[in-house]
Order: sequence, then C-alpha cells, then structure tokens
Amino acid sequence: VEHPTPTGPQHPACKGRVALVTGASRGIGKALATRLAAEGADVAVVARSLDAVRRGTSLSDTVASISGQGTEALAIEADLGDPEFDAAALVQQVEDRLGPVDILVNNAGTGHFKPFVDWTPDEMHTAQQINVWTPWELSRGCVPGMRARGTGWILNISSAVATVPNTATGFVGAGGSLYGGTKAMLNRVTASLAAELDGSGVRANTLAPQSATATEGVLINIERGFIREEDTEPLETMVEAALELVSGELTGRIAYSLGLLDELKRPVRDLRGEALVDGWQPDDVARYFATGRFPHR
Ligand SMILES: NC(=O)c1ccc[n+]([C@@H]2O[C@H](COP(=O)([O-])OP(=O)(O)OC[C@H]3O[C@@H](n4cnc5c(N)ncnc54)[C@H](OP(=O)(O)O)[C@@H]3O)[C@@H](O)[C@H]2O)c1
Repeated sequence: VEHPTPTGPQHPACKGRVALVTGASRGIGKALATRLAAEGADVAVVARSLDAVRRGTSLSDTVASISGQGTEALAIEADLGDPEFDAAALVQQVEDRLGPVDILVNNAGTGHFKPFVDWTPDEMHTAQQINVWTPWELSRGCVPGMRARGTGWILNISSAVATVPNTATGFVGAGGSLYGGTKAMLNRVTASLAAELDGSGVRANTLAPQSATATEGVLINIERGFIREEDTEPLETMVEAALELVSGELTGRIAYSLGLLDELKRPVRDLRGEALVDGWQPDDVARYFATGRFPHR
C-alpha cells in the first residue's frame, strides 16, 4: 500500500477535503481533528457542548487549536445519544458550511464497565444509540454523496473489547458486555458497509487502539493505578493509523492501531504531521509484536 510520507503542512494528505469528526472535544477525536487540519482538511467537530470543560478541555478548545492553519473549523453541538438526534440535518449543516463530506469519523463513544445484571434499559439504549445507531445514521447521511462523487472514507472507532473476552489478560472480560457488544456490532456493520461499497471508491473501516490510548481520561486512570502505563500507546499512533484509513486505499478492515502501523511500516508523526515521534517508529512497533511488550511512552 502506498502512503503519503512525509505528511503535514508541506505534503498534506487531505488537502481540500472536508472531514466530520464526532466526539472531538477531547481524546482521540480532538487529536485526529488536529491532525486532519494539519493535513489540509476543513474539519467539522461535534460534541454535546461547545464550552463545557471536561477533563481540562472543550470543543471550543479543539476549534482554537485547529484554526489558523488556512483551513476551516466548524463546531457543532449535538447529543449523539439522543434517539431524536437528526443525523441527516447534521450532515446538511456541515455541507452547507464546508461542502460535501469526504471523510466521516464516528469517534464519539461511550464505554463504561459494570456487571451484566446492573445495566439499566436506559443505559443500554443510550450506549447502542451512541456506539451503533448514530454512526449508522451519519454514514447513511454521507454515503449517497460519496458514492455519487466516487470517493470517500468512513472510519468507525472501535475497541479491543469488541472481541470475545480474553480472560488470560483480564482486560476485555468482566464488565464489558454492553461496551464490547455495541462495538462488536459496529465492527460487523462496518464490514457489510465496506462490502456493499466495494469498487465504488468509498472506503469503510474500523480502527481500535491496540489496547488503550493515552487520552486525558486514560491518563487519570494511570495515575489512579487502574491502567498500566506500559499498556498504553500515545495519541499519535492511533491518529497516524486513522490518517491511513481516511486517506488511503484500504477498506473492510477491522484494524488495530499498532498492528496496522506495523503491517504498513508507517512512520508515526506528531499531531502537526511534522516531527517523527520518538520510540514509536516502525522498528519500535515491530519490537512490540516480537516481544509482546509495548514500546515505552
Ligand atoms: N481511549 C482509549 O483507550 C480507547 C480504547 C478503546 C476504544 N476507544 C474508543 O475511542 C473513541 C474515543 O475515545 P476517547 O477515549 O478519546 O473518549 P473520551 O476522551 O471519553 O471522549 C469522548 C468524546 O465523545 C464525545 N461524546 C460522548 N458522548 C457524546 C454524546 N452523547 N454526544 C456527543 N458527543 C459525545 C465527548 O464529548 P462531550 O463529553 O463533550 O460531549 C468526547 O469528545 C470511543 O469510541 C472509544 O470507545 C478508546
């Protein structure tokens, strides 16, 4: 697979494209929106609130950090867990302001853990809404235009918890029934979407962190001792793998960040698409797969 490298402002991988990224007020969504802007895309970002500061950052902060690079940034408030959420109207709003959506990233997700018997029907409906129905409806809103233009990328952000629990690691087992179940469905839905779009020029994939990505929330859990630092990867590896799947040729993949980077031997750059990130280059990632130990952050 050919991939654009070097990337970033001098060699933008997404120049002139329009991207829609949900859940971009922090974490992976914010990091990916930042990189997409650096790669020349106009970016619409979505979260429940423009100004609410959660974990030290907000959707307005995302817009501030991606503006001023010669690309457009558009913030939209929407509750993607609301069954009344109007996906078609949101896509229309983006297209009116920025033009046709070339890249849709369904990143917003909800992923709590608790015992099977303790989930309430309301929680079950909301998780299914955010993790499955909204990505489906937003994709439905974008696919006809993408197909007509013969180009487009849909990337659904999934999780390692979607696979059957591996009790040996203890990581994806107990407590993950709802989160894992909805992400498994997201993977399966995406596989069919990709098959139906095969040959149309529109690609659909899912991408999950290999294990956990060092978002603000995960960093707090490292400090509290719930997640081991050595089991996490930086935002930049997840974003680099995502960039491949929203600008390259691959489709129908249920991909994991480090596995994809290793397969493609893709260099990992910072969120501006410029400097190589020390410790996470192809040889480092290959060493992880050889030894089973994550490169150190
Ligand atoms: N971080 C990891 O290690 C990890 C591992 C596996 C999978 N993932 C997946 O990666 C994706 C991003 O995870 P993350 O860790 O970056 O998450 P995060 O830091 O918790 O951020 C979640 C984002 O989604 C938005 N969001 C949540 N509920 C929403 C709703 N009802 N309507 C609109 N926006 C909503 C949040 O914005 P507001 O709260 O401001 O609305 C926020 O921008 C998720 O799909 C998650 O399942 C992450």
